[in-house]
Amino acid sequence: RAAGDPLITEVQDWNRYSGDGVDSRPYGRPSDFESQVVRRNVAWLTADPISSVNFTPLHELDGIITPNGLCFERHHSGIAEIAPQDHRIMVHGLVDTPLVFTMADLMRFPRENRIYFLECAANSGMEWRGAQLNGCQFTHGMLHCVMYTGVRLRHLLEEAGLKANGTWLLAEGADASGMARSIPMEKALDDCLVAFRQNGEALRPEQGYPVRLVVPGWEGNMWVKWLRRLEVGDQPWELREETSKYTDLMANGKARRHTFAMDVKSVITSPSPQAPLMHERGRTVVTGLAWSGHGTIERVDVTIDGGRNWHTARLDGPSLPMALHRFYFDFDWDGSELFLQSRAIDERGLVQPTKDALRAVRGENSIYHNNGIQTWHVGKDGTVENVEIS
Ligand code: MTE
Ligand code: CO
Repeated sequence: RAAGDPLITEVQDWNRYSGDGVDSRPYGRPSDFESQVVRRNVAWLTADPISSVNFTPLHELDGIITPNGLCFERHHSGIAEIAPQDHRIMVHGLVDTPLVFTMADLMRFPRENRIYFLECAANSGMEWRGAQLNGCQFTHGMLHCVMYTGVRLRHLLEEAGLKANGTWLLAEGADASGMARSIPMEKALDDCLVAFRQNGEALRPEQGYPVRLVVPGWEGNMWVKWLRRLEVGDQPWELREETSKYTDLMANGKARRHTFAMDVKSVITSPSPQAPLMHERGRTVVTGLAWSGHGTIERVDVTIDGGRNWHTARLDGPSLPMALHRFYFDFDWDGSELFLQSRAIDERGLVQPTKDALRAVRGENSIYHNNGIQTWHVGKDGTVENVEIS
């Protein structure tokens, strides 16, 4: 550092004058110096911002928890604003006693706290045919991970009394899209939550206030927001969101049926196109996220030379099933260009595939469930670009 740096030698304003008092920010907000850390949408992706999506700024975050105000949003009919006292959850169909729960009723069931990632099935969908969007916010930002507080879905179903032939569950939202999905009863009775809190506070309206379904490890579309109706049936409903949408069209023109779980995946969040390498050569931190809908992450490998040499990344922070995992690779950058990639391996031993390997099996008609390895090119000047290498 230059001698006589005024930031060291001069008294600064914040050092001289008192700041705002404790009554100035009753609900806190981030520093004004962090104003670039926001969700962003891509205008040309959708016809309007109502049935649309915005993206989590993954490149600006660390650890595994997404702050509530930065969780990406995906709405089919915009944000429903519902007063909790006006909300009802109905359970009917193949049950002994159809029931209606108020939010107050829900609060009287035993609560659980769980940290899970939510990934939209369409995350990275724009990348199927080649590198497209310049930033992990846009290529991988339909992803968030928070702590939910809620009650097990099982409690509500058992209260109504499941009939023996009740093998499927329909979950429907109260928003104008009436979004609904079929869920196998086995999953519904296992780990699904009816959640009303996110990172300790009430769900945000964007995330389904006052209540949403949490379907750990499975595609985001099934996590019905503004949850209002649960119907028990003996077969899947095969509605729009599970036939025309959210199915994977194969090369032969046939679609895969019910691809519920999100596969093992990872991405380097920094450096990345929106987070270039701004420093000189030497000590460098590469960091990213890994996750799997099948459990915990066992290992993450990182390469800086496009896959010629792989190094085991350092996982740091909690390792929880179906939650984001944070990894780091610390190395000395010699100032040359880099081809950065990460490859995750989950507890079942499933390995994240290359994009070419994925295309060989799935063809190029797909939109959903793209868990291919992402490549970032780092130039000598530190700028970063989304590229593909084969
Ligand atoms: N639930 C309702 N009622 N309406 C919706 O539009 N979008 C779904 C799902 N649940 C949706 C919904 C989709 S496609 C995804 S990926 C997740 O909510 C997104 O959740 P988030 O907005 O909390 O990120
Ligand atoms: Co989605």
